[in-house]
Amino acid sequence: MARCPSEPVLRHCCPVRTMIVCHCNIVTRTEIEDTIDALLASDPYLRLTPGMVYRDLGRRGRCCGCFPAIVAIIVAAMEARRPSSTSSADLLRCSGGVPVE
Ligand code: FES
Repeated sequence: MARCPSEPVLRHCCPVRTMIVCHCNIVTRTEIEDTIDALLASDPYLRLTPGMVYRDLGRRGRCCGCFPAIVAIIVAAMEARRPSSTSSADLLRCSGGVPVE
């Protein structure tokens, strides 16, 4: 996933950050990231879904074609908050808490 090289100075004017992720609701990546930050600030153990993010934004999924992108943004936000010793590859190898070989 592309990371904004100008973060945090130009957070709201960087093309990556202002990219429209949901064309049905005209929602930008910045709006989604800010919502994720706010939701995780209220409960760091929250299991976020695109529906939760949209509910907080006061919007609803229409075609839901953007949901995979929303999930990717959620995963990136969670990885940014996770201690560096655990990678997403480690998590993907696990299934229900039992490591898969
Ligand atoms: S693109 Fe987001 S609901 Fe359609």
